Amino acid sequence: MSKFRSKKSNLQTFKETKRQVPEGTQVLSIVEQLDDGRGVAKFKGKIVFVDGALKGETVKVQFKKSFKNFDEATSVKIISPVSDRIQPQCQYYERCGGCNLQHMKLQAQRTFKQKSIEKRMVEFGLVKNDELESVISPLLTSDPFQYRHRARFSVEANSHKFVLGFKGNNSNKVVDIDSCEVLLPGLNTVLPKLRLSMSGLSYRSSIREILILEDSNGKAFIQIRSNKRLADRDVDSLKVLSDRENIGISCKNLVDQMTYWSSDDTQPLTQLSNESVSYNYSLDDFTQINPTINEKMIQQTCEWLDLSEEDHVIDLFCGIGNFSLPAAKNVKGMTGYEISEKMVKKAAQNAKENGLSNTTFFAVDLFSHSLKFDRHVNKLILDPPRAGAEHVCAQLVPPRIQYILYISCNPSSFFRDSKILIDGGYVIDKLGLIDMFPQTEHVEIMALFSHQ
Ligand SMILES: C[S@@+](CC[C@H](N)C(=O)[O-])C[C@H]1O[C@@H](n2cnc3c(N)ncnc32)[C@H](O)[C@@H]1O
Repeated sequence: MSKFRSKKSNLQTFKETKRQVPEGTQVLSIVEQLDDGRGVAKFKGKIVFVDGALKGETVKVQFKKSFKNFDEATSVKIISPVSDRIQPQCQYYERCGGCNLQHMKLQAQRTFKQKSIEKRMVEFGLVKNDELESVISPLLTSDPFQYRHRARFSVEANSHKFVLGFKGNNSNKVVDIDSCEVLLPGLNTVLPKLRLSMSGLSYRSSIREILILEDSNGKAFIQIRSNKRLADRDVDSLKVLSDRENIGISCKNLVDQMTYWSSDDTQPLTQLSNESVSYNYSLDDFTQINPTINEKMIQQTCEWLDLSEEDHVIDLFCGIGNFSLPAAKNVKGMTGYEISEKMVKKAAQNAKENGLSNTTFFAVDLFSHSLKFDRHVNKLILDPPRAGAEHVCAQLVPPRIQYILYISCNPSSFFRDSKILIDGGYVIDKLGLIDMFPQTEHVEIMALFSHQ
């Protein structure tokens, strides 16, 4: 029982000096659950954050680190488990740093995430306790396992070993894995073949990571990232793997960021299951990792914004047009903004290939750019990276857009930005949680803001 990273929660920003770690083990009662999944206990009046422990349990812990105001420990034995505990499905769970909630039943994970966000919304003054019921929408869910269509694995290789996997808990060491329970099943078929082929490469020690992806046609793509070019004979042997297994393989040099070899010209494709749009992208481009959830998010975005042919919509942080293109089908005008010129070009190309002539895309840095809103713009989609959209939100007040749909992968920056919007005159009409990353503490939030 010694899983779990010591990663601090996003909110836990205080700096602490390390102290002498208490020796031996202790039996503690877990009285609270942190948002990052760790249990909270007390030992000699001091707070202890305990990896792998659930609220209500009594656990034997081993201390790992000690600071002035708190200690960190890991559970070594669960003495009295709660009914929310479940045997983790993954054989690597104890050591791998990929997931951190597999020891909690799925329904308990969902309730825990939902309650934690609702509580913080109220604490931040974003909604009142008695308003929660009227704004909260049902949770969007997918299969709890086999949901990821992409992953980035670290590699540690030399002449004696070839280790491929995620970094471990509390460690920078890579945990060697043959399969991953949250990956789409097709990728788990590819993984052992890839390992076999890569472990025989003569320049394998220069490989740092591999990116692995399955598109909506079920085709696998792999990018091998190394800090020097692979030998020609290595590329030849990857070509054999690509031809035999129909895998799109490319190699990228991390020093100059150049992709210097690609087994074929095929690009990954997303075709929405309702066939409304399709888009091409490359392995380097941002895509939402859970395709089932992504489709549900797109549908919910269009529904919540109640898009019509009168609307002029802006999509900020638009990437390859994941939300812009399906939304553009229903509106008069769609303008997308995104920092990556490469993705902006792809969004424009994808719009053209879908026969959409009402879209325009611009490459800008939205952390510093001053937005000029055409007076027709009445709806806005906002899907920033983890840092959030503080600079953008400051420009949206006093209220100038009728509806803002905010999608966030980081509750902390979402709360901060929501406060700017609400203090500036918007109200929250709807709030929905999205379980994009089951078995982990991570959660996606969607909120609809409006003003009179
Ligand atoms: C969470 S992703 C969302 C992308 C897209 N909406 C989607 O669903 O695929 C955030 C996007 O913001 C872009 N981005 C990051 N920093 C940015 C910045 N400073 N200005 C504009 N775009 C930025 C990233 O390149 C990425 O495409």
